[in-house]
Amino acid sequence: MASRGDKRGATYNQLESGAERSRPILHQNAREIQPYGKIAKLPIALDEKVCAASAENLNQILADTITLRDLYKKHHWQVAGHTFYQLHLLFDKHHNEQGELVDTIAERIQSLGAISLAMAADIAETTIIPRPPRGREEAPVQISRLLEAHEILLKEARTMARQADEAGDDGTNDLLVSQVIRTNELQVWFLSEHVVDVPLVRADEAKAASPGR
Ligand SMILES: [Fe+2]
Repeated sequence: MASRGDKRGATYNQLESGAERSRPILHQNAREIQPYGKIAKLPIALDEKVCAASAENLNQILADTITLRDLYKKHHWQVAGHTFYQLHLLFDKHHNEQGELVDTIAERIQSLGAISLAMAADIAETTIIPRPPRGREEAPVQISRLLEAHEILLKEARTMARQADEAGDDGTNDLLVSQVIRTNELQVWFLSEHVVDVPLVRADEAKAASPGR
């Protein structure tokens, strides 16, 4: 009969024997199966050239959407002032909505047989949204920065939606119009209303008396 002492004394080979098929195979490496920029054609009844053109545009939108998403999180963490709580919540809501767009855009690119950008270094090289400082900024400056980023995105999304429409890529056109453009326009409204200069408690009677001023 084997004692506890016998088990502790079992050799390495004895312990591993019979478990070979469940052992993880580590440190594997091979050439990538699809280089970036190449199309692995899928049967979606769209020409490869159309897929490649849409994917190139969508990767630009993806890089800018990831940047805008992250800009919202930065401002969610760093906002200050008497509107802290509402802006803290609003910035996080918009961050999450932009995050959903990121996944939708990236998966559209993959559906076109192309490869979506993913990593921070590639996003930083690609985005056309200006880099913010690392430090904290006042809430109106944060909002201005976000509004400018939204406008960059909306401008390019409208151009790309038209290009997709002309090329017959209805799926990309629909994504850009129904999701990217509409989400960004709605977020612009919510942000813009925070930088309208209206009194908090007492109405401005002087301005009411001379509306043309
Ligand atoms: Fe948070």
